[in-house]
Amino acid sequence: EGDEELEARPPVVTVMGHVDHGKTRLLDAIRKSDVMAGEHGGITQHIGAYQVTHNHEGTDRKITFIDTPGHEAFTAMRARGAKVTDIAILVVAADDGVMPQTVEALNHAQAANVPIVVAVNKIDKEGANPEKVRGQLTEYGLVPEEYGGDTMFVEVSARQNLNIDELLEAVLLTADAALDMRANPNKDARGIAIEANLDKGRGAVATVLVQSGTLRVGDTIVAGTAHGRVRAMFDDDGSALTEAGPSRPVQVLGLSNVPRAGDTFFVTADERTARQIAEKREAADRNAALAKRRKRISLEDFD
Ligand code: GTP
Ligand code: NA
Ligand code: MG
Repeated sequence: EGDEELEARPPVVTVMGHVDHGKTRLLDAIRKSDVMAGEHGGITQHIGAYQVTHNHEGTDRKITFIDTPGHEAFTAMRARGAKVTDIAILVVAADDGVMPQTVEALNHAQAANVPIVVAVNKIDKEGANPEKVRGQLTEYGLVPEEYGGDTMFVEVSARQNLNIDELLEAVLLTADAALDMRANPNKDARGIAIEANLDKGRGAVATVLVQSGTLRVGDTIVAGTAHGRVRAMFDDDGSALTEAGPSRPVQVLGLSNVPRAGDTFFVTADERTARQIAEKREAADRNAALAKRRKRISLEDFD
């Protein structure tokens, strides 16, 4: 970003791994809440992303977690060229070891050049064999620090809240060592839609991740083919916000329709401009779909 005024921003983290290895449970433990059990009596809402604060060497540091079904969201967003994640936490159940989706997940992360921290989960279980997980992942190029590599492995139990702080520490150490996490907060916001739905009462509700600049209530934005003026913004704990800086996930109200996960968004000068860009994109989408259909038909003719 040239000679702009760059400031430190929190790392953005996605949790990936094989089915049932404990991704959701781990995210819950990290959040110190239990979305699955609904312990917060409806106060904490699911917005697909949240921030936690971790004290790192005497300084409070924020970490942003994307908690949409990690794997799929990651793949869909990557297909649209969006880069959301700075760091991937690869969850491997210590009793199961490396499984097909573990390998898929690590391939995705490696292809996207995203550093990996391994959470060896379920170490409370009988038959847990974290040493075996280290050996297995070494064969895929994830060599633990203990073996002379540069991947941090942390043994955790999401169920027993064991070593969660150590995991957050590993995320920050890995981010600090591998990445330049800075962005300019002093300009119009840009970022990515990570989740959206149509709400009966509130209309289009989109969770967006601000990647640079600061998003403010009253800004007009385009997100994919959706556009509109930001009417209100909310945190994952339901509190209203007036602005959101880099790496901050927020729920946004006021869009014309529902953007797709991975759509980029940016602020425009006014509502007219936003609408025009959105309409142009819509037309381009329609034309692309039409061209695809024509191509299919002509191929069928050829048969
Ligand atoms: P999918 O989203 O379906 O891929 O699963 P997931 O990876 O999100 O796993 P989830 O968090 O749903 O956990 C799967 C099961 O493992 C649940 O029954 C959890 O309670 C259990 N589980 C998760 N973490 C731990 C752990 O640290 N120890 C033990 N003993 N069980 C765990
Ligand atoms: Na599950
Ligand atoms: Mg899950």
